[in-house]
Amino acid sequence: MNDLSLSAVTARLRTQTFGRRIVYRSRIGSTQDLAREMAEAGAPEGTAVLANGQTAGRGRLGRSWVSPVGRSIHLSLIVRPSLVQLPRLTVIAPLAVALAVEETTSLRPRIKWPNDVFLSGRKFAGVLIDSELAGDQPLYAIVGIGVNVNLDTSAYPEIAPIATSLMMETGQEVAREAVLASLLNCLEDLYLAVGRGEDDAVYEAWRDRLDTIGQTVRVRLGDQVEEGLVEDVDAEGSLMLRRADGSRVTVPAGEVTLRDA
Ligand code: BTN
Repeated sequence: MNDLSLSAVTARLRTQTFGRRIVYRSRIGSTQDLAREMAEAGAPEGTAVLANGQTAGRGRLGRSWVSPVGRSIHLSLIVRPSLVQLPRLTVIAPLAVALAVEETTSLRPRIKWPNDVFLSGRKFAGVLIDSELAGDQPLYAIVGIGVNVNLDTSAYPEIAPIATSLMMETGQEVAREAVLASLLNCLEDLYLAVGRGEDDAVYEAWRDRLDTIGQTVRVRLGDQVEEGLVEDVDAEGSLMLRRADGSRVTVPAGEVTLRDA
């Protein structure tokens, strides 16, 4: 079996806390569930739950995440964010994926709002953030990140037309350890930058890679649907839409689907 070498990950880390404690499973239902249990039990910020494969990998909006053994990165990172850092995780996580891929390959990913990461118009990484609050105070958040590294997506009909992987884009296998270490390094850098109030640089780097500005989109948020031209995004990652009647609306989160051209 193609196992993940934790020593190869650790050797590349330049973090203070992110990934300094790693809980690794060859196979698990979902890393999100174990990370939540550990956060509830008091695991410190930066604890990374990793699995070589997942049998019940979860995506956003109740979808599943294809997670066969030995091919991808399945990470659930425990953080204990401030009220300022919590909403920024939506921006930090996909940006860290993009930066890590830029650092370790020749590829240049794009971000589809809010936090899908794309290459050649196909998704290769996604982010799922679960958070727990006491009143309005964050207790912890679990930043779940899945990256298709050496996955041959053509073997999975349910995602084949819309998904890709780093291997498919580069034409060769990519070392998961190098991408993962860079991802943890970038996540911590961005998280600490936001903690210091340096939001502007983080936001600009995310916005530079965002494909959604200037597109006409339909946004689903629960039962609500908004449609319009994306004029901009704000620092919390909300979409600023201009509706067909000229009015404006800000949409905090949801699922963007591009309207038929
Ligand atoms: C999405 O784009 O829908 C989000 C995908 C998130 C997948 C990751 S893999 C690690 C963690 N464990 C899960 O079950 N889901 C997230």
